[in-house]
Amino acid sequence: MKILVTGGLGFIGSHTVVELANEGIEPIIVDNLYNSKEEVLEKLEKITGKKFNLYKYDLTEKENIERIFNENEIDAVIHFAGYKAVGESVKNPLMYYSNNLISTIKLLEVMKNHNVKNLVFSSSATVYGMQETPKYTEKMKRGDTTSPYGTTKAMIEKILEDLYASDNSWNIIILRYFNPVGAHSSGLIGEEPNGIPNNLMPYIMKVASGELETLNIFGDDYPTPDGTGIRDYIHVVDLAKGHVKALQKAPKGLNVYNLASGKGTSVLELVNTFERVNNLKINYKIVERRPGDLAEYYADPTKAYKELGWKTEKTIEDICRDAWNYEKNKMN
Ligand code: WQD
Repeated sequence: MKILVTGGLGFIGSHTVVELANEGIEPIIVDNLYNSKEEVLEKLEKITGKKFNLYKYDLTEKENIERIFNENEIDAVIHFAGYKAVGESVKNPLMYYSNNLISTIKLLEVMKNHNVKNLVFSSSATVYGMQETPKYTEKMKRGDTTSPYGTTKAMIEKILEDLYASDNSWNIIILRYFNPVGAHSSGLIGEEPNGIPNNLMPYIMKVASGELETLNIFGDDYPTPDGTGIRDYIHVVDLAKGHVKALQKAPKGLNVYNLASGKGTSVLELVNTFERVNNLKINYKIVERRPGDLAEYYADPTKAYKELGWKTEKTIEDICRDAWNYEKNKMN
């Protein structure tokens, strides 16, 4: 089985390549290296003992995608490639709409021309927006997204729904991630954000490594037990395994799944766990809330368990240990 993994050198893409290889599935990687490094390829080969075909292409160039499909018998596509920094998307919406939407549409057109109609799409819990209750289920309607990045995810979900309605010979799996964190236990691959991190875990890493002075905790006056924001953090290896299970077990047609633990963790709980597990201190100060942040949301992950036989296995402690192990490895 040959799977095209777009964005396959990125954070989630690279971990998914490992899990595909572990299952004897051949991943073909395409990545434009905008938010990833080519050296990840040799790390993947070191972890798996296997060589991978890499196309350093941008998906907005349709002839590039054509070339990949002409040179390989592709059975399915896992589509990770896309810009994903919330803050950057607010500053530069056109860059996000044109890149994320045009590349996806061109990919789908080439898939259709080659009669490859099996797609796993990397979506995000951000498409839920604010809901009545903090426990999000796939039955809920998409809500108001709070950034152009989130809106591109919601728009692509809509494009996929319309595509399936026009031709239900497609098999489309939409995976909504909550908060992907952590790293492979080898310490060879992990999260590599460009510049100053927006997200909590990579920011904690930079403070732990001494690269940044202090973690700003965005508000401790939320209606939560310790006042700080609550999210559903999922270990990236659990997330990667969820993609393999989706390929192997999802029913025909168009299906949507939450991939997350189903457990909420607050900012302070995460910081305290990180300190305890790694026996170090994280400097932090409480500052104003970040505009657009919700107090609390986490997943109802039961649909993925029932239909894919998948659930998270790793704990917040595993997340904190593996993330720091990767960060320390990078410093050596
Ligand atoms: C988590 C918690 C912050 C940074 C984002 C995207 C979402 C998805 C996951 C791609 C919140 C607090 C954070 C910091 C802090 N990405 N925080 N200090 O906002 O839940 O989701 O990443 O799909 O689309 O929106 O993640 O890590 O930014 O924040 O206190 O320096 O940590 O307030 O409570 P978020 P996050």
